[in-house]
Amino acid sequence: MKVFQYLLFCVTLLISTSCVYNNLNTNHYLLSPDESLSFTLHADQENISYSLKKDGNTLINQSQLGIVADQFEFSNDIQIKNITRSSNNSTWIQVWGEQKQIVDHHNELAIHVTSNANDIQMIIRFRLFNDGLGFRYEIPEQKELNEFKIMDELTEFNFAEDATSWWIPAYSYRRFEFLYANTLISEISRDTYSKLVENLNGPRLGPEAVHTPFTVQRNDGICIAIHEANLTNYSSMTLKANGTSKMECDLIPWSDGTKVYTKVPFQSPWRTIIVGNNPAELAMSTLTLNLNEPNQLTNTDWIEPGKYIGIWWEMIGTNQSTWGSGANHGAKTEKVKEYIDFGSKHGFKGVLVEGWNTGWDVNWCCSGDGEAFDFYHSHPDFDTEKITEYARKKNIRIIGHHETGGQIQNYESQLDSAFSYANRNDIRVIKTGYVNDVSQNIKRIGSDGNVYKEWHHGQYMVEHFRNVIEKAAQYQVSIVPHEPIKDTGIRRTYPNILSREGAKGQEFNGFMSTKDNNKPNHTTVLPFTRLLSSPMDYTPGVFNLKEYRYNSPDNRTINTNHHIPSTIAKELALYVVIYAPVQMAADLPTNYEDHPAFQFILDVPTDWDQTVVLNGEIGQYISTARKDINSNDWYLGIITNENGRELSIDLSFLDTEKPYKATIYKDPNNGGWKSNPEEVTIETIVVKKDDIYTASLMPGGGHAIRFSPL
Ligand code: NOJ
Ligand code: CA
Repeated sequence: MKVFQYLLFCVTLLISTSCVYNNLNTNHYLLSPDESLSFTLHADQENISYSLKKDGNTLINQSQLGIVADQFEFSNDIQIKNITRSSNNSTWIQVWGEQKQIVDHHNELAIHVTSNANDIQMIIRFRLFNDGLGFRYEIPEQKELNEFKIMDELTEFNFAEDATSWWIPAYSYRRFEFLYANTLISEISRDTYSKLVENLNGPRLGPEAVHTPFTVQRNDGICIAIHEANLTNYSSMTLKANGTSKMECDLIPWSDGTKVYTKVPFQSPWRTIIVGNNPAELAMSTLTLNLNEPNQLTNTDWIEPGKYIGIWWEMIGTNQSTWGSGANHGAKTEKVKEYIDFGSKHGFKGVLVEGWNTGWDVNWCCSGDGEAFDFYHSHPDFDTEKITEYARKKNIRIIGHHETGGQIQNYESQLDSAFSYANRNDIRVIKTGYVNDVSQNIKRIGSDGNVYKEWHHGQYMVEHFRNVIEKAAQYQVSIVPHEPIKDTGIRRTYPNILSREGAKGQEFNGFMSTKDNNKPNHTTVLPFTRLLSSPMDYTPGVFNLKEYRYNSPDNRTINTNHHIPSTIAKELALYVVIYAPVQMAADLPTNYEDHPAFQFILDVPTDWDQTVVLNGEIGQYISTARKDINSNDWYLGIITNENGRELSIDLSFLDTEKPYKATIYKDPNNGGWKSNPEEVTIETIVVKKDDIYTASLMPGGGHAIRFSPL
């Protein structure tokens, strides 16, 4: 509408709200508290879009906002009713985490609009922090609207620069368990991935899209990650690529094509744009947590961070035992007792036992068609009563395991019985699993009795995972899901979701041969991608890195195709670099007993007072320092990719003037993942906070250091 016509319209109708609209029909600006980020909302009756700048440089060009539902549409033909503003500066305390205190300092702007077609109201709320932007769609309670279906979310992320990016493909058969591709944004496609990283065989369903967190680094060094916070009653957001530097929100659909089934009052998850001047700043962002709701659990005393061992690597790594019945069944009472003895002697909190239940004998992996698992009756080899009593005596807990095989309804029908079994037997942590390795293959029997196949990351599964966390909390059980939906900071609201997998973890170094396992750079990519959403059950700590895997449980000759691309020193450093409140010591007890480097695993905490990422380049190296929550000790983990390098580490993070004893675990000078991965040099030096520590890193290696004030 031309200005003249519009003024005439106002005058003629003498409707004050329409004149208010005139003031609102323009750009609205918002600055971050430190004024480094500036956000612009471009609003008129045809369109609502946004852009984002850092220190005057445009990061995100004008990008579309909006939602299309079955009963209304917010894309164009809207009226802007109001703009509201507010600010917040508060501090909250984590039940456990990378740091005790988190500051939530942001400025907020909310735009209130109605759709002209049917007068539906919507709010888009923006929060600008020093470390990025979050925004979400809200549809409040209103007459004429109750249940509705979201058919599309129009959100765009129009990067101002076609920068280098790190990504894993969405709509692909192995969920999040992929190595990262590193290409320009405009180069993203499954063909590119197949060429550069791994051939994406299997059905090509769904659009060309990537999972989040999706990380970008510009030529000026600024890093940007797109993710989401508080993914609740919605479907996961992936980012659709189209050969340009513009990414579009793509919601994983239900089997009938609907993106989200919902009702008023409605809030979408927050769409987040995390920003840092460099990779280290990006990795320290607290934006995702700040955009989640506060802790809902009144009592959290039963939530226990800590370290665990388990009957696991002997199946997935060394290949000497089986989950299922037979002579090589791992979860036998006597063997569990041996693990309890070892764990208890060394002060571990838990012993994970996989294969303790029934359901492993017929086709449990990977189609979702196997024998149904039972989650509250043990395998005859596993004597629940004896084991519970023995663990109680030895002051250690069993960590339960619920592999669902992707059979969701079978699992949901047993949740109460399963968690009550856990509660009776002192089990406080359960690792769950959703192996079901074909793209859109989660079976759901609808109320019409028909079988529907859902995606692993759609709304059906988002709701399933939440249901499990809430139900577990009622029985004082914490959950560590493997093959999960992505972390979006829900741990703030439900601190009993302790950790999760959701990336290519150590297991791929077990069952995959050297050709296909994790590359030495993988753990230098994770902190700037997957770990932005934080904790990961990577399961570090393998000491036997070469010649460790048998050809089969019955053929105990060494399969020489296996060689883990890591070193013992790097495995130790991963306990600091990869944050998790529950960390596994993954290797067999026999490989730890009497090994001098085992002391670091025994010492390293899993709950921290402070964290500082000291440096890092995505896919090359990272150095992370963390302060123990229970003492004045600091720990430092430094890791590198396949290249050796020298890093100068400024020790000014040490927070007292005192001298510190630094116990250093590092690769020897002839070390490195290929040449000499299993030798560790352990030395002790005295340092002070004004010292510079020079770390000479061997190819694929690392340094792990404990600093204790003298
Ligand atoms: C895959 C998980 O990541 C792994 O840790 C587990 O042992 C197997 N599934 C069996 O549940
Ligand atoms: Ca897995």
